Amino acid sequence: MTAIGIHDLELATTHHLLDLGVLAERTGVDPDKYRLGLGQDEMSFPAPDEDIVTMGATAALALLDRNGMEGVRTLLFATESGLDHSKAAGVFVHKLLGLPAQVRVAEIKQACYGGTAAIQAAVGIVQRNPRERVLVIASDIARYTLDSPGEPTQGAGAAAMLIAADPALVEIEPASGLFSDDVDDFWRPNDSTTAIVDGRLSISAYLDALTGAWDDLAGHDGPAIGDIDRLVYHQPYTKMARKAQARLGEHLGVDLGDDGLVPGAIYNRRLGNAYTASLYAGVASVLDHESDLVGKRLGLFSYGSGSVSEFLTGVVQPGAASRTDRFTAALDARVPLTIDAYRGLHARELPSAQDVETPRVTEAPFRFAGIQGSARRYERR
Ligand code: CAA
Repeated sequence: MTAIGIHDLELATTHHLLDLGVLAERTGVDPDKYRLGLGQDEMSFPAPDEDIVTMGATAALALLDRNGMEGVRTLLFATESGLDHSKAAGVFVHKLLGLPAQVRVAEIKQACYGGTAAIQAAVGIVQRNPRERVLVIASDIARYTLDSPGEPTQGAGAAAMLIAADPALVEIEPASGLFSDDVDDFWRPNDSTTAIVDGRLSISAYLDALTGAWDDLAGHDGPAIGDIDRLVYHQPYTKMARKAQARLGEHLGVDLGDDGLVPGAIYNRRLGNAYTASLYAGVASVLDHESDLVGKRLGLFSYGSGSVSEFLTGVVQPGAASRTDRFTAALDARVPLTIDAYRGLHARELPSAQDVETPRVTEAPFRFAGIQGSARRYERR
């Protein structure tokens, strides 16, 4: 059988960051609650001329610069933070990247799980025609109401991946475990810019889904836990991966420890939650910070509130050996926000009926220029 999986992977984030120490000063909370209790140091925050399209296009541009566009006939855009009830955000990216007309574009939604659904759909497309490559973009802005418990777990980022035959980075293995359940743990109604969340329920729903998906993987000829070398979890905040690892160990009656989780948390601690991109930021973080993973098996747990989850596995390929940390420079380059500037940007709303030109702030290759005649306008800088 042809090996299919992640051939290349690139991350992008926003112009701004908010240091969680600054947020703690405002909320009057001990900063260690955020740094140790949640395992988060910073959160990315978009400038007025950035959104899921500009982040997604930025990540994909770097990917296509390295790999070319040959064989790319599908662009799947996964997001929780959709911009339009009808038009896929990927259509804007298609134009910004100058992709040919002969590309199918669609948006995939199921909270933070959408990126994994897109990868599995892409694997199917490549299996049918191994000369095709699929561009998968997972891009999100995680936003909760000001002064809510979810506020320190906001963030923003995009992961662009090229799914191809004979992949250079990670071969996705055929067996996977699934678990879906209709649960009101986290959702965002069509007329709301912030998510509604029941924090306690979301944690227990995540952990129940983890063991449910694991059991399904085991029932579908998945590997034994001892044959998985690194576990990478969806990280709404990095402490959640430690809770997950402890629960899985308890479920299986083995001590999994949590040292192996450190490399996969390096980017996410600073990015914050990036919903669909969060698991793949964790994968990038592991590949970029561990040098001896070639031939080793990764176990990936993808959770999307609401809820749909999947436990999949992948084997690291030789191309991963040449990866280095390219993303810390982008995280370092972000411009810190004061608490007042952050709260001002958070409260900003852009009704679609009002024409608006956004201020020029971002230094990324693409910017959201504003709204004209109810349509969003983008430009290359
Ligand atoms: N020093 C060190 N640790 C401290 C501390 C201090 N001074 N003060 C508190 N802590 C610890 C607490 O003991 C707790 O640790 P444990 O979780 O190990 O018990 C941790 O900090 C958090 O404290 P609280 O539980 O009191 O925090 P909270 O109730 O204010 O909020 C939250 C936590 C519910 C996760 C909230 O941030 C939230 O609602 N976040 C959004 C929802 C979310 O991320 N859910 C995760 C699963 S759902 C999912 O994965 C999908 C998705 O992406 C949204």
